[in-house]
Amino acid sequence: MAAKPLPDSPSWMSWRTLLFLIPAAFLVGFGESCPSKCVCPAHNTAVFCNSRNLTTVPGRIPPDSEFLDLSRNSLHTLREGMFSRLWVLKELDLSHNMISNIEEQTFNCLRNLMTLRLKGNRLDMVPEGVFTGLPNLSILDISENRILVFLDHSFRDLSNLRKLETGDNHLVFISSQAFSGLWSLQQLTLEKCNITSVPTEALSHLRQLVELRLKVLNVTTIPNYAFQTLHHLKDLEIHRWPFLTSLQSESLSGLNITSLSITKCNLHDVPYKAIKHLAHLRFLDLSYNPISVIQGKRLVDLSRLQEFHLTGGQLATIQAHAFQGLVHFRLLNVSSNDLQTLEEKVFHSVGNLEVLRLDRNPLACDCRLLWIVRRRRRLNFESRQPICSTNSTRKGKTFHKISEVPPGHFRCRKPKIVDKALQKVNVEEGGQANLTCKSEGDPPPVVSWVSPQNVTLDMGRRGRMVVLPDGSLKIHYALLGDSGSYHCIASNAAGIDMMEAYLHVSIPLFNSSAFANNASLLSDPGNQLPFLVDLGTLVGILVIGVVPFLCSVMICFVFIFLWSKGRGNAKHHVIESVPRFPRGYKAITNKNRTPTKKPR
Ligand SMILES: *[C@@H]1O[C@H](CO)[C@@H](O)[C@H](O)[C@H]1NC(C)=O
Ligand SMILES: *[C@@H]1O[C@H](CO)[C@@H](O)[C@H](O)[C@H]1NC(C)=O
Ligand SMILES: *[C@@H]1O[C@H](CO)[C@@H](O)[C@H](O)[C@H]1NC(C)=O
Repeated sequence: MAAKPLPDSPSWMSWRTLLFLIPAAFLVGFGESCPSKCVCPAHNTAVFCNSRNLTTVPGRIPPDSEFLDLSRNSLHTLREGMFSRLWVLKELDLSHNMISNIEEQTFNCLRNLMTLRLKGNRLDMVPEGVFTGLPNLSILDISENRILVFLDHSFRDLSNLRKLETGDNHLVFISSQAFSGLWSLQQLTLEKCNITSVPTEALSHLRQLVELRLKVLNVTTIPNYAFQTLHHLKDLEIHRWPFLTSLQSESLSGLNITSLSITKCNLHDVPYKAIKHLAHLRFLDLSYNPISVIQGKRLVDLSRLQEFHLTGGQLATIQAHAFQGLVHFRLLNVSSNDLQTLEEKVFHSVGNLEVLRLDRNPLACDCRLLWIVRRRRRLNFESRQPICSTNSTRKGKTFHKISEVPPGHFRCRKPKIVDKALQKVNVEEGGQANLTCKSEGDPPPVVSWVSPQNVTLDMGRRGRMVVLPDGSLKIHYALLGDSGSYHCIASNAAGIDMMEAYLHVSIPLFNSSAFANNASLLSDPGNQLPFLVDLGTLVGILVIGVVPFLCSVMICFVFIFLWSKGRGNAKHHVIESVPRFPRGYKAITNKNRTPTKKPR
């Protein structure tokens, strides 16, 4: 029988094991008692019986074995007594069998067992009392089974369990006492199961929990205070929750974690409020969420943050001062996004930055990226240098690694406002005004306006005054108070340019167009404006309203008069006219008449 190479780091093999082994080897003798279908490497206490089509646990397993591998066989049922002589066994691997039934006392004598692997079997429940008699068990893997519920006290006797893997079951329910008794549990993974809410109450029994992984779940929300009692938790991973779109502000309340991953979910925004209190957070990963912007100065409370990952998102902007206050910040991983640039001023200080992953972004090679060029030897790009897409002379785009961009790039051109002649715009109250401001520069300048009241009007602002994409300021329903001088400011990384424009709003004379404007103004509920109907408009309303009313009343009277008059005449007329009808007509009309009338 050929000896198999040993696994790299045999946790089950230690100095103490070896010391124990020497006398045991004399007592038992290795080669003789190895089961015929298994491999028992010499000078070793491991027995490998994996992938042998076994339907039962083979006999003659050396009683001094510390590791028994029975994985990938065809075991169906584990019976009491099957492992009875293996009192020094430390690790038992039963994964990938067809085990659907485990008798109650099966593991009873495995008092030294530390690791039990039951992954990939057909268990549909955690059999009651099956884990009693395993006082030293510290790792239990029951993932990839068919377990539907964890009932109360399922793991009651495992007071030394450190790590529990439950992933990929059909779990629909975890009862509130399911994890009670797991006083030492440090790592828990719940993965690919059908629970629809965070099992807050069950988790509250895990006071020593350090790592919690909740993966591939259809849970839609993390309620406020969901993890409140997990005071020792350091690492929380939430992965692939397609229905998670936002985090409530207190959802992570009570936690003091150092690592947080919320990846492949559907977050549209960095959950600033929910993570604000995590003052010891060092690692934050929000990769593969449709987040488009990291706002400035919103992460300042995460003063110990060192790493920020947001790869595969929809990031188009990292605003200035986004990482302000993060004095220990050393790694930014934003590869595969829509970023055109990353300015030096997003960081608290680039001096500490070590790793920068900015590849697979449509970067523009202008002066905003010059700081990266200067630091390119000190920064670690993990051999993925940022690639710039540069406008070449043929109007197409060419792509260069940042260190290979031809000279002449990494420049910016100051903004220039094209037509600076003073604009004087007159508009009647209620009308619409347009102040133009056309500018150019590289990168294209951002335009904002300052009103006579010193209010800055940015692009993207909503309301009565909006800055249009071409830089012009549009004022809907101008008010008298809007009059005054406005300043247009065009700015980019290279500088600013300014221009003044004057708006005069006048009281409208009465005319139909002013009336139409006022009418639409009054019907717009979004505008809180003074009542603007002046005398001219009032006369207009009266004329337009009263004249048709009077006319219709008159017409009514005329009709009533004519009708009543016509009714009175009609009677006489019929009687008088009958004798004068021509013959033919009389003959027809007389058909239905009473015979008392005498023909002439
Ligand atoms: C769990 O969800 C999967 C996929 O949605 C489904 O196929 C399976 O039937 C569900 N199981 C239970 C027990 O609801
Ligand atoms: C939070 O965790 C850090 C280290 O992870 C620890 O030093 C600090 O004392 C903890 N704070 C509280 C309030 O538990
Ligand atoms: C950055 O993200 C990419 C893509 O997700 C990943 O492959 C890489 O390992 C990350 N780098 C670091 C330092 O974590």
